[in-house]
Amino acid sequence: MKKIIVLSGKGGVGKTTITALIAKNLNKEYRIGLIDADLHCPNLPVVLGIEKKDLKVNNEKRIIPLKMNDEPWMGIISSYFLMNDEALIWRGPLKHKLLLDFKNAAWPELDYMIIDSPPGTGDEVISSVQLFQPDIAIIVLTPQKLSIMDAERAINFAEKMGIKDIRIIVNMSDLASIDKVKGFKPIARIPIIKELTKSPVLPNNLEIEIDL
Ligand SMILES: Nc1ncnc2c1ncn2[C@@H]1O[C@H](COP(=O)(O)OP(=O)(O)OP(=O)(O)O)[C@@H](O)[C@H]1O
Ligand SMILES: [Mg+2]
Repeated sequence: MKKIIVLSGKGGVGKTTITALIAKNLNKEYRIGLIDADLHCPNLPVVLGIEKKDLKVNNEKRIIPLKMNDEPWMGIISSYFLMNDEALIWRGPLKHKLLLDFKNAAWPELDYMIIDSPPGTGDEVISSVQLFQPDIAIIVLTPQKLSIMDAERAINFAEKMGIKDIRIIVNMSDLASIDKVKGFKPIARIPIIKELTKSPVLPNNLEIEIDL
């Protein structure tokens, strides 16, 4: 199984949208497990158009991921299914424990596990990297100076955490062209998607290839 973590320095650059896009693309062929490591603002189920349901646990007390697709299998775990609309007030150790529960969930055999993270390089992101030991870090940025600066920080973070395979995706790429970030050439450029201004749910007919 390959494990991919999606990171960015800056918030709101499209990590969750791109996580969903990559997952849907890969699920045409592969079995996918999705982890929403953004515990405070769990948007991944929303972007995927999943309704709120209660997650169940099995008799070993392991969380049963919510199945989204049968063949090939795709499922997700998110704190979205554990919360109401109030803010969650969780401190570091509790968040680490919850991410450990996500990791130890009753996952079937997978080809890819994809982890969507909150912005920055704080507690949940450190815990996620330590717990999941991702093979690949995908750094998402938009073509603006601050976003690029923060992406460079995210690259430094991924390198320091020992992630060997680092890739860059430029979102909203029509804003400006970016050649390289810290020597990394983007593996994909995602244009502005007009439909997303009306609804955050990724349109079903959207065809954007991302060559991983
Ligand atoms: N290519 C795009 N074109 C138009 N809108 C986009 C695009 N990518 C993302 N968006 C929109 O921008 C907003 C932020 O995207 P998203 O939630 O994926 O970012 P994020 O990096 O996960 O944010 P956060 O840091 O809060 O987790 C959303 O409303 C989303 O629908
Ligand atoms: Mg997000």
